[in-house]
Amino acid sequence: MIPVVKTIDEIREYVNKWHKEGLSVGLVPTMGYLHEGHKSLIDRAVSENDRVVVSDFVNPTQFGPNEDLEAYPRDIERDAALCESAGAAVVFNPEPEEMYDNALTTVSVDKITKVLCGKTRPVHFAGVCTVVSKLFNIVKPDRAYFGQKDAQQLIVVKKMVKDLNFDIEIVGCPIVREADGLAKSSRNTYLNAEERKAALCLSRGLSAGRKLIENGERSAEAVKNVVRGEIEKEQLAKIDYVEAVNAETLDNAETAEAPLLVAVAVYIGKTRLIDNFIVE
Ligand code: PAF
Repeated sequence: MIPVVKTIDEIREYVNKWHKEGLSVGLVPTMGYLHEGHKSLIDRAVSENDRVVVSDFVNPTQFGPNEDLEAYPRDIERDAALCESAGAAVVFNPEPEEMYDNALTTVSVDKITKVLCGKTRPVHFAGVCTVVSKLFNIVKPDRAYFGQKDAQQLIVVKKMVKDLNFDIEIVGCPIVREADGLAKSSRNTYLNAEERKAALCLSRGLSAGRKLIENGERSAEAVKNVVRGEIEKEQLAKIDYVEAVNAETLDNAETAEAPLLVAVAVYIGKTRLIDNFIVE
């Protein structure tokens, strides 16, 4: 069975040994409750590195006071089995006390964390950047793998890595979807049958927007209107945002031109879902 280690000292023993042997190390940071989306990150990491560490840690500092930290699903045994079958070498599954031992330091990225999800989740990205920095310092990976579904997170992590000179390659991996189009997410488990159906409005709206661009539309406003219009047809949906931004700077886009990120956050009942597409 794949080792599941709980302490920083133990995971360091593994990676220090591998580094001494000249083996490359890939890191897949996760909050657990792994699904096909995570598996695609692990598969990619396994194909590009000699050894792969999957971190499985529901990071408390990236949840706001009224968010779903307590409810967030957890199943370390199932996660470990998935990691093993995908070919990872070890799972790092620390407790919050192990990661935050009276810590007073945070890592925050300015400007690009204030838009999109940052507007309604003011502490989220500092929590992500802090824990990801810590994981980078603990695991010292050559490469780290992040999903494109959290598009803003991927952009923020890339900027942090550049600004702080982490010697780590950040690899973004495509969104994995259910057969009917819903982007895979651990939070999909919160949806009841009716909400599950309603949640399709995100991918439906985004597909309509993408088609419009493919058919030659150049106004970002027109694209956003089509996406918003499609989502608003769904009674259970409450839009947090529908935005079209430059995919590097996250500045508002006037024209629907590459590099463009069209991103949405929508409440389906109490569950907040995100999805996006990028025009490169
Ligand atoms: O994307 C996630 O699951 C988390 O934000 C991450 C990157 C593992 C940091 O806790």
